[in-house]
Amino acid sequence: MTLRITVIGTGYLGATHAACMAELGFEVLGLDIDPEKVAALSAGRVPMYEPGLGELLLKHVAGQQGSTGRLRFTTSPQELADFGDVHFICVNTPQKKGEFAADMSYVDAALDSIAPYLTRPTLVVGKSTVPVGSAARLADRLAELAPAGADAELAWNPEFLREGYAVGDTLHPNRLVAGVRSERAEQLLREVYATPIAEGVPFVVTDFPTAELVKVAANSFLATKISFINAMAEVCESAGADVVRLSQALAHDDRIGAKFLGAGLGFGGGCLPKDIRAF
Ligand SMILES: NC(=O)c1ccc[n+]([C@@H]2O[C@H](COP(=O)([O-])OP(=O)(O)OC[C@H]3O[C@@H](n4cnc5c(N)ncnc54)[C@H](O)[C@@H]3O)[C@@H](O)[C@H]2O)c1
Repeated sequence: MTLRITVIGTGYLGATHAACMAELGFEVLGLDIDPEKVAALSAGRVPMYEPGLGELLLKHVAGQQGSTGRLRFTTSPQELADFGDVHFICVNTPQKKGEFAADMSYVDAALDSIAPYLTRPTLVVGKSTVPVGSAARLADRLAELAPAGADAELAWNPEFLREGYAVGDTLHPNRLVAGVRSERAEQLLREVYATPIAEGVPFVVTDFPTAELVKVAANSFLATKISFINAMAEVCESAGADVVRLSQALAHDDRIGAKFLGAGLGFGGGCLPKDIRAF
């Protein structure tokens, strides 16, 4: 029987993940605490700008003419728990007010909302970007709160998608990272990602802390490249050199590469600054 997938938190990451899971052939149910978002997505409207996502939503969302009907949305945690075999947690982890740390209250609330309804063997998969150590803590909490006990397992599967390329990055990622504690959890994730794995996408199996750290290590490395070339721009300015030609010359070395090596304003966006501060 084909796995049934759920997505908890249908914002940027979750809406994309839900639509892409439907595209991969799964029946998908998305949950959000924001009823307006659920209504918009159910009507086939994407509440943010992301190329290709609107088309994918219309192709799969139930009730749209000619759609596969594989994708639905709800505000009911119980409906979600009853429906799914594999539950992806995709809620926000913003910077805490007045601190550098990540605010884990949304992840905790998401787990707490579904766990009491998990009565049969399931896999809960964290995708949100979290501080190292979170998965171990959440696994204990899940086993404690879920009626299924130890049969309600946790895995960590960080997400590396880029805004503007979210659909392509989800369907054809450059790697998949699976932080697991059991063979069963690994096999379930291999089943979910069977299509990209068959395309040759590397599937890297790790423990929980390594999976959590891969995400923040990747972000830190990218931020370092941007900061590095900006520091070189300052040196170039003092020395009367040309940082654009410098970075072109550096990029010919494939150990360095050309990406994230354009001097400019620095980095921003919704994730990089908060993730690095939290790390
Ligand atoms: N946006 C990206 O490009 C990107 C890329 C990789 C990783 N991430 C990570 O993914 C996570 C989500 O980011 P995002 O940009 O999608 O955030 P977002 O703010 O766009 O979406 C989060 C959604 O979760 C919902 N939510 C909050 N609490 C909930 C609960 N208890 N139950 C159900 N829904 C709930 C919110 O209503 C919102 O719709 C973050 O940890 C982020 O760091 C984001």
